[in-house]
Amino acid sequence: MKSFWKKLWSQPNAKWLLGIPLGGFLFLAAGAAALATFNFSLRATNTNEFCEGCHIGMDTVVEEYHASKHYRNEYGIIATCADCHVPQDFVGKMKTKISSGIKDVYKKYWVKDINLNNFDQDHRLRLARHVWQAMDEQGSSTCQSCHNPAKWDLKVQPSRARHNHKPEVWEEKGVSCIDCHTGIAHKKPFR
Ligand code: HEC
Ligand code: HEC
Ligand code: HEC
Ligand code: HEC
Repeated sequence: MKSFWKKLWSQPNAKWLLGIPLGGFLFLAAGAAALATFNFSLRATNTNEFCEGCHIGMDTVVEEYHASKHYRNEYGIIATCADCHVPQDFVGKMKTKISSGIKDVYKKYWVKDINLNNFDQDHRLRLARHVWQAMDEQGSSTCQSCHNPAKWDLKVQPSRARHNHKPEVWEEKGVSCIDCHTGIAHKKPFR
């Protein structure tokens, strides 16, 4: 056994092996496979199918989203669940995936407290508040991956929008998109 490990990391004699030990090749291959799996998991858990698999039948957010302009509009540019709910920066993305991932699986398969009959009454506002807070904390960054205020042509916006769409004013007031725009993909919770 010892000789096997030794051989794995010893420089090969043949010139065409470039003097790289076999272990080096295997090490790299394992690393690449791990990275590919990790990448695949990140992507697979960002699709609408993944989110909808749990949410359909438990609550009504998917059906509401399907009726919204962010799912079907004149331009055919649509926002997926993850576009709005999962930050794009690596740290934010991992935080969201790990914390809500663990909680949601636990709630869905063990607690099972949310269903179509009690969702609107007992759960929607609590969950919406959680989303508002999360979006507030990241300055509505997910909205801005599509809507870039620096590129807004304010002149062509309706006057109410024009007056409210000044990033310098938001900064002063400490507001971002989500402070003014709620209920854009789902029914607005009653407060
Ligand atoms: C394993 C099942 C499951 C999957 C998959 C799932 N969810 Fe959920 N989700 C839940 C449950 C259960 C809750 C309620 C959690 C609670 O009661 O605190 C929830 C709550 C939420 C909330 C509201 C509050 C919060 O936690 O921020 C959002 C937003 C959400 N999910 C979005 C998504 C998105 C986006 C995806 C896909 C990327 C997704 N969910 C995939 C089960 C799931
Ligand atoms: C993937 C891209 C994308 C993301 C992410 C996105 N939007 Fe949109 N949004 C659009 C497009 C495209 C339209 C135009 C739909 C139309 O008017 O036909 C739109 C329309 C809107 C409208 C006007 C129509 C309506 O439903 O009232 C508002 C307000 C809006 N978005 C706010 C937001 C906010 C707030 C967020 C973040 C929570 C967000 N959007 C995230 C692409 C996006
Ligand atoms: C201070 C409040 C405020 C903030 C912050 C704000 N908006 Fe608005 N927005 C408005 C108002 C008011 C309207 C006009 C709504 C109407 O006329 O029904 C509007 C309209 C819009 C529209 C429709 C424009 C059109 O041409 O009809 C979009 C899209 C939109 N906002 C997206 C965003 C996004 C994305 C952000 C963050 C980058 C944002 N808004 C930040 C108040 C705000
Ligand atoms: C355009 C952005 C956008 C898209 C797309 C979107 N959401 Fe949301 N979602 C929000 C916002 C904003 C809230 C906070 C409550 C509100 O203002 O309606 C929210 C709230 C929620 C909640 C809490 C319950 C509630 O009704 O407030 C859940 C669960 C949820 N979303 C899941 C999903 C799932 C699953 C998808 C895809 C099928 C999705 N969302 C697509 C923006 C979005």
